[in-house]
Amino acid sequence: MADIFTPWQMGELTIPNRLVRSATWEGMAQPDGTPTFETVNFTAELAEGGVGLIITGYAFIHPLGRGLPHQTGVHIDAMIGPITRISDAVHKNGGLVAMQIVHAGGQTKSDWIGGQPLAPTAMTHLAFKEELAELSKAQISDIAEMFGRAAARVKAAGFDAVQLHGAHGYLISEFLSPLTNRRTDEYGGGIENRGRFCREVYQAVRREVGPRYPVFIKLNTEDGLEGGLTPQDAALVAASLSDLGIDAIEVSGGMAAAGKKAAGRVVTKPEEEGYFFDNAKLVKAAVKCPVIVVGGWRSKSRVEAALDQVDAVSMARPFIRQPNLANLWKAGQSLQAACISCGQCLRAGMKGGVLCVQEQKEKEEAKK
Ligand SMILES: Cc1cc2nc3c(=O)[nH]c(=O)nc-3n(C[C@H](O)[C@H](O)[C@H](O)COP(=O)(O)O)c2cc1C
Repeated sequence: MADIFTPWQMGELTIPNRLVRSATWEGMAQPDGTPTFETVNFTAELAEGGVGLIITGYAFIHPLGRGLPHQTGVHIDAMIGPITRISDAVHKNGGLVAMQIVHAGGQTKSDWIGGQPLAPTAMTHLAFKEELAELSKAQISDIAEMFGRAAARVKAAGFDAVQLHGAHGYLISEFLSPLTNRRTDEYGGGIENRGRFCREVYQAVRREVGPRYPVFIKLNTEDGLEGGLTPQDAALVAASLSDLGIDAIEVSGGMAAAGKKAAGRVVTKPEEEGYFFDNAKLVKAAVKCPVIVVGGWRSKSRVEAALDQVDAVSMARPFIRQPNLANLWKAGQSLQAACISCGQCLRAGMKGGVLCVQEQKEKEEAKK
């Protein structure tokens, strides 16, 4: 079994151990996207807890590309100062931090963005039932450039890397999926065409940040829906990004309409852990860059076993419950994460900020 606590490289970035905090929307920003003290503290606490690399919650690159309320924004240069507070606080605590950037595409609500959601294809959204407007080619190219400018802001703000959100039904993943991309131009059809937007976003980002800055992607490898993106097609997209020079791929899956097969599934027993691991192995065989795998990892022994075949393992919900999980595992404690995958952290986010509802309940019980 591989040792979790050995360093690895993502491009020129040396990451001290193989545990990554997968992106987690904080639900803590001001309505205009400015991160608050709560956002900064939530992220900095993770650095104290020993995780090798922290990925922030998804930050929107344009107000029409917001995915949820109280999301951090990286859409204008005025955000460089406020987001620098996040990277500074993490670095002060000895951690490394990447910012995830997103355009939510059609997977949002008109109330949250103040306009009609934009998508590869004009259709009714599979989960939210909103009517989506089809992007023109000029808009597609503008959005790729917006990703580029947002990445340049992330770099200017001192983050150690930038991650593109190419998963979970948001715009890049919407282009990859045959369910949500029914275009007949060069952006739709076979996987070569459905992967075009993703490659163009990566290339726009690379142009802005230069050849050495670490750029990686969280990539959908299945949608969790019949007729959706296949892991084989996703591996082809991963291979093309690897050929273009991407520094790592984080393997994920699911979209809002997938219900129980969405990104954050319920894990009740060890055999259910690592539900995208088979896809990650397929991707690993297709690429030259490191592969990170997310999705339901809970026990140290299963993470160690996975590290024989991938480079790093990422988790989201367990770090909400135990921000110091990496240090606990290093000390040989809490070998099974306390998270029960109830998903209530996400709902708490809508009410003022992500937190572990189970932990809160236990604390209240203990007071009685
Ligand atoms: C509260 C919450 C917020 C999330 N926000 C993001 C996000 O901003 N970007 C993203 O790629 N995934 C996001 N996810 C998905 C997680 O990163 C992860 O892929 C998923 O929860 C499965 O991993 P886990 O079993 O370790 O939680 C979020 C999940 C939760 C529970």
